[in-house]
Amino acid sequence: APIQVKKICCIGAGYVGGPTCAVIAAKCPHIQVTIVDLNKQRVDAWNSDDLPIYEPGLDEVVKGARGKNLFFSTDVDKGIAEADLIFVSVNTPTKKSGIGAGFAADLNYLQLATRRIAEVSTTSKIVVEKSTVPCKTAESMRTILEANSKPGCTFDILSNPEFLAEGTAIADLFAPDRVLIGSLQTQSGLDACAALSEVYANWVPRERILTVGLWSSELSKLAANAMLAQRISSINALSAICEATGANIDEVAFAVGKDSRVGPKFLKASVGFGGSCFQKDILNLVYLSESLHLPEVAKYWKAVVEMNEHQKSRFARKVVDTLFNTITGKKIAILGWAFKKDTGDTRESPSISIANHFLNEKARLSLYDPQVTEEQIWLDLTDYGAIPAEPIKPHVSIQKSAEEACKGAEAIVVCTEWDEFKNLDWEKIYENCPRPAFVFDGRLMLDRKKLQSIGFRVVTIGTAD
Ligand code: NAD
Ligand code: UGA
Repeated sequence: APIQVKKICCIGAGYVGGPTCAVIAAKCPHIQVTIVDLNKQRVDAWNSDDLPIYEPGLDEVVKGARGKNLFFSTDVDKGIAEADLIFVSVNTPTKKSGIGAGFAADLNYLQLATRRIAEVSTTSKIVVEKSTVPCKTAESMRTILEANSKPGCTFDILSNPEFLAEGTAIADLFAPDRVLIGSLQTQSGLDACAALSEVYANWVPRERILTVGLWSSELSKLAANAMLAQRISSINALSAICEATGANIDEVAFAVGKDSRVGPKFLKASVGFGGSCFQKDILNLVYLSESLHLPEVAKYWKAVVEMNEHQKSRFARKVVDTLFNTITGKKIAILGWAFKKDTGDTRESPSISIANHFLNEKARLSLYDPQVTEEQIWLDLTDYGAIPAEPIKPHVSIQKSAEEACKGAEAIVVCTEWDEFKNLDWEKIYENCPRPAFVFDGRLMLDRKKLQSIGFRVVTIGTAD
C-alpha cells in the first residue's frame, strides 16, 4: 500500500500555496495542513476575516477548514519538522541582477527554503517542488538536502507544478484538467509519487493524475505557459492585421478556433497578457535554451514576449493618435488595474505599462479597479519606490467607482475585462464627458453598437471601424 501522508506543510502562503493547500485541507479532512510563510502580515491576513488575496470561492474554502485541519503560521521550522510531505511554493521571480539578469529565475527563495528543510528535519520527508522552476532544479534541491541532512533522514523530491489560473483558482483546483507529478524512476521516487497521488485521488479522478519523470514534469510547466502565452501573442499579432484591413479579430478567432485541432479557448485578443508568470516563465525558457546552446529556440520563444510588449505600446499609441496626436493635459480614465478580471493581482498588469505611457505623454489619469487597493496602485506606479511619487502625484487620481473615474474624461480606456464594466450607466457617463467622447476597448468586451448609439466614438483592439 502507498505511504499515507498525514501531515503536510506548505512553505509560501502566496497565490499558489494558499489556495492549493486550502483546497487539499478541504478535500482531505484526515490530513493536517499547515501553510507557513516568513511574511507575518500575510500570515495574519490568512488568519483573519480579510484574506490577503481575492479569489472567488476562496473565503468559503478557507473558513470551512481553518482551525480544523488547516493552519497558517510563521513558524516555518515547526511546520517543516512535523510534516511528512512539504510543498515548496515560494516565489521564483526573474533575476534582477547578476548572471542571467532579466531572464533567469531567481532561485534564492527556493534554495533558502530547501536549506531550512535540510537543517530542521529530523525525520525523512517527501519534498515537493510546487513553484515553477527551470528544468533540473530538483537535482540542485537534492544536492542541498543530501549535503545538509541529519543521519537517517532521507528526502524524496517530486515535481508537482501548479496549473491554476488566478480568478478561477478554486474552480481549477476542484476540477483540474490534470495533476502532474514528476519523480525519479527509482523505487523510493515512485513510492513518493504514489503517496502524493493518493492525496490528490481524494477528489481528482485517477486518469487525470499524470505521473512522469522529474525533468519532463519541470519542463511541461514552462512549456504549458509558453504555449498558452504564444496563442495570445499570435492572436494579438493578427489583431494588428485586422485593424489595418477591416477584418474582425473576434470573427477570425471564432473561425480559426472551430478547427478542433486549434480549439476555441485562449484566443481572446487583448491589450496584452499580464500576470506574474507568462513573461517570467518564457524568459526562463529563453535563458534555458541559450544555456543549452540553442539560440534559434531562444529567439523563437523570446518573440512571444516581444509581441506582447508591442501590443501594449501599440494600444497606448493608438489612444494618443486617435486623440488628435496629443494627450498632454487631457484627462484619461483607465478602467481596470488588475491583470485580468476576478483577481486583485497586478503583477505585470498591462494597465501599468499603458498608464506609464500616458504619464510620459503628460496626460492626467483617473483610475479605477474594483479589487486593487490605492496603496497597490501607487506601488505599481512608483515601481515599488524606485520612481519618486511626488512628480506623478498631481497627474493621478484613484477613484472608488468607474462612473467617478470617467467624469470629465476625454477618453475612457478599458484595460481589464471586469464584468461590471459591461453594465455601467454609459448614458450618464456620456453626459459627463467632453465631446467627442472616446471609449477604447482593450478587451473587446463592450457593446459597441450601444455605445455608438449613445454618442461615443468606440475604438476596439482588432477591428478597423
Ligand atoms: P507569491 O509571491 O504570492 O508567494 C510566495 C510566498 O513565499 C511569499 O508570501 C513569500 O513571503 C514566501 N516565501 C519566500 N521565501 C520563503 C521562505 N524561505 N520561507 C517561507 N516563506 C517564503 O508567489 P505565487 O504567485 O504564489 O507563486 C509561487 C510560485 O508558484 C512561483 O514559482 C510561480 O511561478 C508559481 N505559480 C504561480 C501561479 C499564479 O497564478 N500566481 C500559478 C502557477 C504557478
Ligand atoms: C496562467 C495560466 O493560465 C495557468 O495555467 C498557470 O498556472 C499560471 O499562468 C501560472 O503559471 O502562473 P494566469 O496568469 O493566472 O494563469 O491567468 P490567465 O488566465 O492565463 O491570463 C493571463 C493573461 O493573459 C491575462 O492578462 C489575461 O487577460 C490574458 N489573456 C488570457 C488574453 O489576453 N487572452 C486570452 O485569450 C486569455
